[in-house]
Amino acid sequence: MKIAIGNDHAAVELKHQIMAYVQGLGHEVENYGTDTNASCNYPEYGEKVARAVTEGRADCGILICGTGVGISIAANKVKGIRAAVCSDVTTARLVKEHNNANIIAFGARIVGEELAKDIVKAYLEAEFLGGRHENRVAMIAEIESRE
Ligand code: RB5
Repeated sequence: MKIAIGNDHAAVELKHQIMAYVQGLGHEVENYGTDTNASCNYPEYGEKVARAVTEGRADCGILICGTGVGISIAANKVKGIRAAVCSDVTTARLVKEHNNANIIAFGARIVGEELAKDIVKAYLEAEFLGGRHENRVAMIAEIESRE
């Protein structure tokens, strides 16, 4: 898969650890995040990764900030994005199976390296189940279309 990754200053080290891990799983990773610890603004990176996904430059995205929340809120402002914050492996699997999340987010100040790797693996290996979930995801898009 082609994966877009982005982060703010709170998550530079974890971003590089996750990039290496995801590449080791055989995926291609494009880095849209900051690589310095200088304070920056997470919405910029949330939008960059979101657009990479909606414009088809990536199959899905990974976003990391301090909590995963700010950067995912920003990404979710881009039409067609379903970015989900996950701090555990079960949620990471279910956001793909049920919500067809196209971006996963987590916080470098919340999860450690090993848990972050497990979260990413669970998400990347999961598949959207469709069926009854299809209509619910379509309902989310319909809400968006009325904005
Ligand atoms: C930056 O200090 C922090 O606010 C940011 O990384 C993130 O946690 C926001 O949601």
